[in-house]
Amino acid sequence: MTELRTAIGLMSGTSMDGIDVALLSSDGRAEVHQGAALAVPYDGEMKAALRAVLGGRCNTKAVANLAEALTRAHAEVINLLLKKKSINTGKIKVIGFHGHTILHQPELRKTCQIGDGALLATLTGIDVVDDFRTADVMAGGQGAPLAPLYHAALAAALPKPLAVLNIGGVANVTWIGRNDDMLAFDTGPGNALIDDWLRRCGKGEMDQGGRLARAGQVDQSALSMLLANGYFDLTPPKSLDRDDFALPGAPEWSPEDGAATLTAFTAQAVARARAHFPEAPAQWLVCGGGRHNPSLMSALAEALAVPVAPVETVGWRGDSLEAEAFAYLAIRHLDDLPLSLPGTTGVPWPLTGGRMNSAS
Ligand SMILES: Nc1ncnc2c1ncn2[C@@H]1O[C@H](COP(=O)(O)OP(=O)(O)O)[C@@H](O)[C@H]1O
Ligand SMILES: [Mg+2]
Repeated sequence: MTELRTAIGLMSGTSMDGIDVALLSSDGRAEVHQGAALAVPYDGEMKAALRAVLGGRCNTKAVANLAEALTRAHAEVINLLLKKKSINTGKIKVIGFHGHTILHQPELRKTCQIGDGALLATLTGIDVVDDFRTADVMAGGQGAPLAPLYHAALAAALPKPLAVLNIGGVANVTWIGRNDDMLAFDTGPGNALIDDWLRRCGKGEMDQGGRLARAGQVDQSALSMLLANGYFDLTPPKSLDRDDFALPGAPEWSPEDGAATLTAFTAQAVARARAHFPEAPAQWLVCGGGRHNPSLMSALAEALAVPVAPVETVGWRGDSLEAEAFAYLAIRHLDDLPLSLPGTTGVPWPLTGGRMNSAS
């Protein structure tokens, strides 16, 4: 039997809402046990600082300064979790530190997650695996999504085919077939377009409870135009940068109609993913912040016409699943196991990844 190790996973997603941290004990293979988890929101200053560097160069002084602040914020979140749960640092074998993606252009073999793994190792006294996406992209893969192997470990006993949909800033799906074959890719926008619209209308940071969308009418012609984007017909694996689907020009929508239209767009984009699956999934399980938006969940149920349920229905935790995934991948790194497969990112063969920053 392979050794169980306890790891901390960290995720700062493209929604820029904050840091998710989760504990996970695993052998890096089939056995996974979820531990405590926490979400700590970013303040306005950190959100604005992240927004300011999105899509820009990775190696500027300003980015280095922000990476340091971001790393210190991650260390604080780890300390908070360990303190809250009275867990000794010595119990943690490794940290999986995703960092924050500011640029993702796999076709140019570029992907940039900011965060300083060596500094985090020093601050916490725990070994840190970071830089999860570079090796994949350099090998010709998409570098994303990286949670699929964790989805497959969690879903081992569930009926297949199954689709696991993560609605973060960008949405991504993992299709798992009857023989545990996998296909994963970004489906299109997740919450980011809706969030950006709300901010643009001065209506806050998100469509809380999907209320605005519920009060609006879908602009069908704008929706058709948005869905005419060539991305949806591209054969997967494929992935997106946060702002690949920017808001169309200056639409003359009311805040409500804009929210309704962009919510419909996100759901319809997910529905377009089905054309790429080898076999229709009997069920969709949804994780990520988007599952808290009832308007988006009903739009999805309507668009997919099969059961769509939050992952909690099968005992998973939808808010910390991505953080758990990076704990799992950090453990796999320790055993030199692949982090991505031809079906999940398009790498030519199962590929290892991540970089070790030793605490000592
Ligand atoms: N109660 C809610 N109502 C509507 N949307 C929500 C709610 N809670 C979270 N969200 C959405 O989920 C997003 C955060 O999702 P998350 O999974 O953390 O994304 P990421 O991985 O990109 O950070 C928020 O920005 C918001 O759009
Ligand atoms: Mg988040």
